[in-house]
Amino acid sequence: MNDFVNQFWNWYVILLVLVSIIACGVLLWMQSVPPTGGKLDTTGHVWDETLEEYNNPLPKWWMWLFYITVIFSLVYCALYPTLGSYQGMLGWSSSGQLAKELTKAEEQSRPLYDKYMKMDLQALAADKEGNETGKRLYLTYCMQCHGADGRGSKGFPNLADNDWQWGGEPAVIVETISAGRMGMMPPHAQLGAETIKDLANYVRSLSGMPADSLRVSKGQEAFNSVGCSGCHGPDAKGVHAMGAPNLTDKIWLYGSSEATIIETITKGRTNQMPAWKEFLGEEKVHVLAAYVLSLGAGSK
Ligand code: HEC
Ligand code: HEC
Repeated sequence: MNDFVNQFWNWYVILLVLVSIIACGVLLWMQSVPPTGGKLDTTGHVWDETLEEYNNPLPKWWMWLFYITVIFSLVYCALYPTLGSYQGMLGWSSSGQLAKELTKAEEQSRPLYDKYMKMDLQALAADKEGNETGKRLYLTYCMQCHGADGRGSKGFPNLADNDWQWGGEPAVIVETISAGRMGMMPPHAQLGAETIKDLANYVRSLSGMPADSLRVSKGQEAFNSVGCSGCHGPDAKGVHAMGAPNLTDKIWLYGSSEATIIETITKGRTNQMPAWKEFLGEEKVHVLAAYVLSLGAGSK
């Protein structure tokens, strides 16, 4: 039963393809026969009382182009698997082609990655060729979030500065890229609008921005009593283990305006850096980590 169904569709496809191609040929042939009796045939359309449209066959060269395409299709059907389950005279198949090409590319880049893996990250970060490979990988996998120049944007950290949420030591960067990171700033709406405004003023004062001094001192007290310091550190300089950013510098993930800081504290922020080790493999992560190091190196 199953075989019968398969055979039916097989012949159905073969007939459909062949009949369509042959029908094209016949249609062309019919179109190229000149009108009977050598009499000038017209389409029957008349404009402006006497203006008539001739029904001449298409030019010969034009017809031949179409004939050639018909012949090409028939030859193609004979050579390649086009007709149902027929394999084609060349025996060509797309199955396994991708795998073959990937293996080939892999073999070509293998010596290069072997060499990179033997270099430590600092050395690789200073290596011109390694950086070029890193940049190509970066532009493929990381640019959409961190920007072409690595400078990030709102919510996506700048990788080209020397300020790190999770740490800038080579091993930490490898870990960040390999396993991903989840930055979690909890919402604090329960503190009430007044305390949150005090906290925002205190946070702004830390990086030398204008703030209300009364609110700053109240905010400083709250910072330590409500648990901000547990994550951002008592000096608010950030704690890498928590991914909690330094609040005393002029580098902002979300923005420095009072309104934005109030929003951050009230609603919290959750931010995810995807994990890459499984997808890219250890070697590519190694090269990318070196590239990220090289981005920050200029700003030391
Ligand atoms: C889908 C967006 C996205 C992509 C793609 C992405 N990242 Fe990230 N990345 C983030 C976010 C968001 C963070 C911040 C996470 C947090 O707040 O904890 C981050 C953080 C980082 C950090 C830590 C920065 C710090 O200050 O500690 C590094 C390093 C990093 N990414 C490198 C990369 C590399 C290399 C790639 C490419 C393989 C990449 N990222 C691709 C979104 C992305
Ligand atoms: C559980 C740990 C934790 C606590 C508690 C916490 N934070 Fe955060 N905070 C974070 C993390 C992590 C981030 C980064 C979020 C991200 O990656 O998107 C952050 C981000 C911020 C930002 C945004 C900084 C920027 O660059 O835009 C501000 C402002 C901030 N916190 C202030 C506070 C204040 C004020 C408190 C106390 C009410 C507080 N945080 C309590 C972990 C914490």
